[in-house]
Amino acid sequence: MTAQDPAAAGHVQKGLEGVVVSETQLSDVDGARCQLIYRGYEIGELVGKAAYEEVSFLLLNGHLPSRTELADWTEQLVTRRALSPDIIQLMEQLPFGNPMAYLRSVISIMGLADSCAEDLSPQALRERALDLIAKTPTLITLFDRLRHKRSMLGPRPDLGHAANFLFMLHGEEPDPEFAKALDAYFVLLAEHGFNASTFAARTAVATQSDFYSGITAALGTLKGPLHGAANTKAMEMLMEIGSPDQVEPYVQKTLSDHKRFMGFGHRVYKGEDPRAKHLKHFSHQMGAARGELQWFEISERLQDAVWQAKKLYINVDFYSASLLYYLRIPVDLFTPMFACARTAGWAAHILEQLGDNRLIRPLALYVGPRDLKFAPLDQRSA
Ligand code: CMC
Repeated sequence: MTAQDPAAAGHVQKGLEGVVVSETQLSDVDGARCQLIYRGYEIGELVGKAAYEEVSFLLLNGHLPSRTELADWTEQLVTRRALSPDIIQLMEQLPFGNPMAYLRSVISIMGLADSCAEDLSPQALRERALDLIAKTPTLITLFDRLRHKRSMLGPRPDLGHAANFLFMLHGEEPDPEFAKALDAYFVLLAEHGFNASTFAARTAVATQSDFYSGITAALGTLKGPLHGAANTKAMEMLMEIGSPDQVEPYVQKTLSDHKRFMGFGHRVYKGEDPRAKHLKHFSHQMGAARGELQWFEISERLQDAVWQAKKLYINVDFYSASLLYYLRIPVDLFTPMFACARTAGWAAHILEQLGDNRLIRPLALYVGPRDLKFAPLDQRSA
């Protein structure tokens, strides 16, 4: 240890809170202003205007596509949507357990089957990025159809990324308003700075491991309820509450049990998550379209009650829950939906990390004992 080591000085930044570990050109998560910027565009500038195809191009290429570039990018995504027969056969054999564990496992095996997986050239990484952005919706929807013993549906090349997702899940072409709402969800969740899963992806590839290892590290990290699974937990909370008049008792009980309100709080944003108001808008719109506003109403009342009781702001996962529910996404697929959106961000970060790589290797302050003497086994207690 050198005199400059923070660990030697006894300085520990638990959870890496407030630590800046790298520069990025991908997004700015501005906690003080409560702003989210993708490559220079404030998120409100993109949502409802740019489709996920455009935003994934923006993240991976640094600028909004021209018409020709967008047509080419879209075509490349569309032609990569289908899965190989080998992967489909494998998917039929795997246990239909936790959907995130399933997705993580299949993508890991896709890496195993990719003979060029070790190629870390920018071109090879971009190919894999396109491939996974295109295929993740197919993987998620096929998982759902297989576990319910429904017939497999091939992707529809005439439909956009979001509309095709809903088609492959439900087997019918979605109402354009529903596809638009899902598209907005994908755009809003596409990228978010050095969140835990993105950091995991960057850490994995910074060892010069492969693209798939980066994505599977990210998937395993997103799976936890303090990160991506908060959307599923938020919907379970709304269902447990059941009706708007049960919000107050629920809040009181959660407070007295010292439990957390899922979809509330944020490590970086000091006020409301800038994505939340857009998701709230789409949740309201979809709830009205379904004639089922109670989930929106419970959410709105809970938002107010938790603010009154604990001064906690909502985060991205709060209105994602009711929105995805209105889109008839099964509740245990909410976290895979998050992954589906975030694949573009993870891929762009993997490219950025490897474009100017340095091994990520923080320090720890050792607080255990020292100078212990080895005792042979026969001198230790039974
Ligand atoms: N419900 C109740 N209390 C909370 C919550 C919550 N959702 N969030 C924070 N607090 C309290 C916490 O109890 C603590 O109070 P005290 O200092 O009295 O012990 C204080 O606020 C600070 O909390 P923290 O856990 O130290 O803050 P953090 O920055 O480590 O946690 C968080 C951020 C997102 C993990 C946390 O707010 C949380 O657990 N939220 C619920 C899960 C959730 O919605 N996760 C999604 C995060 S956003 C999307 C994503 O990145 O995936």
